[in-house]
Amino acid sequence: QQGDRTRYVEAHKAAARFYAEQLDGPEAEIGRRFLAERGFDQAAAQHFGVGYSPAGWDHLVRYLRGRGFTDKELIVSGLAQESRRNPIDRFRGRLMWPIRDISGEVVGFGARKLRDDDNGPKYLNTPETPIYKKSQVLYGIDLAKKDIAKSGRAVVVEGYTDVMACHLAGVTTAIATCGTAFGGDHVKILRRLLMDNSRARVIFTFDGDAAGQRAALRAFEDDQKFAAQTSIAVSPGGMDPCDLRLDQGDEAVAKLIETSTPLFEFALRSVVGDHEVGTPEGQAAALEQAAPIVAQIKDPAIRHGYAVALAGMLGILDTQFVVHRVATLARRA
Ligand code: GTP
Ligand code: MN
Ligand code: MN
Ligand code: MN
Ligand code: MN
Repeated sequence: QQGDRTRYVEAHKAAARFYAEQLDGPEAEIGRRFLAERGFDQAAAQHFGVGYSPAGWDHLVRYLRGRGFTDKELIVSGLAQESRRNPIDRFRGRLMWPIRDISGEVVGFGARKLRDDDNGPKYLNTPETPIYKKSQVLYGIDLAKKDIAKSGRAVVVEGYTDVMACHLAGVTTAIATCGTAFGGDHVKILRRLLMDNSRARVIFTFDGDAAGQRAALRAFEDDQKFAAQTSIAVSPGGMDPCDLRLDQGDEAVAKLIETSTPLFEFALRSVVGDHEVGTPEGQAAALEQAAPIVAQIKDPAIRHGYAVALAGMLGILDTQFVVHRVATLARRA
């Protein structure tokens, strides 16, 4: 078992080296252009180990066979996939991000297509394997772990390019999930790094689409202690950190992270923003939707604080009215 794992990790290490070398070749021009257009120079690509997977069927398979790996090892570790006769490379003609575990071992890849008419999804990831569990993987954690522990702060962004942009902009606590929603296992990993730091903060950024925001809210329903330490940063115009850095530079990325809104406040503002709170009807409708959010907060002092804040957001001068409404719902829960 452990021996197998070591083999899979070694295969990934060799694959990462192979892909990185391919990035210098003529075929990878389109990949180098993608990086340049995203504001990443050669040093940045190297720092993150970005590479290129050749477009042929089995370049990596043949390379790794030559280094003593068996077809079975390549298939089980996700680098290759079965095909009619011989295994073929899983990743072909894509820009490759090696995904490392917390100790820095490469356990998988994120792969972006470079031409719109290429087959498959925009991003293709390593499937579940003995060494790659997407519910636990956090891209950038190997680079960020020290600063996360030291600063008591973690920044969760959406994609590989966003992690790169943040780190280059000096936000060295940035990490991302890999093609999956942020979930309970990710919380555990961050918890371990943030330990019992009572001032710990986890800041989420979103590129403005509601899907990501809803996902974040859901992730914390069952973990209130974590939720209370969570903030949301929504970038101007829905730009993700990578786009923001391109458009407005490193300082804008750093500033985005500094100006985040606590999760509960963010959730209430979203609800209130969906209603015409200039009228009693609109106020009532918003209150009906927002009060249960506040009522589920378990800490009585925090719950009361947000009830008062909600009254303010709704423009309801009789704060006690909102406080009572929330208290009634909380008693029932
Ligand atoms: P770029 O065009 O590369 O800048 O991507 P984007 O900023 O438009 O990426 P988007 O916000 O759509 O995606 C952010 C992250 O979500 C990516 O880094 C991937 O991890 C993941 N993702 C996006 N599209 C796909 C997809 O088609 N499949 C999978 N599995 N993951 C995806
Ligand atoms: Mn998105
Ligand atoms: Mn998208
Ligand atoms: Mn994005
Ligand atoms: Mn992007």
